Amino acid sequence: MAREITPLVAGNWKMNGTGAALAEVSKLAAKLSEGSGPNCTVVICPPATLLDRLSKAASGTAILSGGQDCHPALNGAHTGDISAQMLADAGARYVIVGHSERRANHAETDELVRRKAEAALAAGLIPIICVGETEAERRGGIADAVVATQLEGSVPDQWSDFGIVIAYEPIWAIGTGLTPTIADIAEMHDGIRALLLKRFADRGEAVQLLYGGSMKPANAADILKVQNVNGGLVGGASLLANDFHAIISAA
Ligand code: PGA
Repeated sequence: MAREITPLVAGNWKMNGTGAALAEVSKLAAKLSEGSGPNCTVVICPPATLLDRLSKAASGTAILSGGQDCHPALNGAHTGDISAQMLADAGARYVIVGHSERRANHAETDELVRRKAEAALAAGLIPIICVGETEAERRGGIADAVVATQLEGSVPDQWSDFGIVIAYEPIWAIGTGLTPTIADIAEMHDGIRALLLKRFADRGEAVQLLYGGSMKPANAADILKVQNVNGGLVGGASLLANDFHAIISAA
């Protein structure tokens, strides 16, 4: 019998937002404080420049904060990079690693993503490890194999202390308005769960599996109903409090 898993809805602001965007955080916090509060964990991953301010603004609310990337090293001569410890110091509880935009724009390999996830865990952060196939890979019938390889290489062996989150984000669905069919999402998430159970036995049961890629108020309820979908990683629709709140309410 599958364990009851608290859903997680995480917003990925990407390279969007200056100080003015914090007004959306206050608005969302106010909405989330109505009634008995959200049924899920709510995380916002703003650009690094806003992390400290957002963490402070969200303190005492239902919103947690996270980074969008971290360097695998603790510190050192890495101009422009940010360590997991620095994110934690700025109030983060989570960090996205291996997002497809980083894999593509910064040539990040599975091995590098795994080391970033390990750095996150060492700093007390929960890594949200992203995987997902391209459109050509889906059309070529190798989406399952691609995702399995990414999981094998990107997920650390050791994570018992803090846990990990996996986000399945088909690259062709990100920012395009396209989404896989519900059946395809269900099949992929079942497959990911099976791989985690095989590799980590019982520990794999509790890992939150998020779907990401054009999740919005109109499709969130249907996607979040799918067995083995334990939440969402939301880009565009997380920028506005009203849209993000509608998705959180669907979880
Ligand atoms: P999107 O982005 O919701 O704008 O498609 C999702 C993501 O990249 O995490």
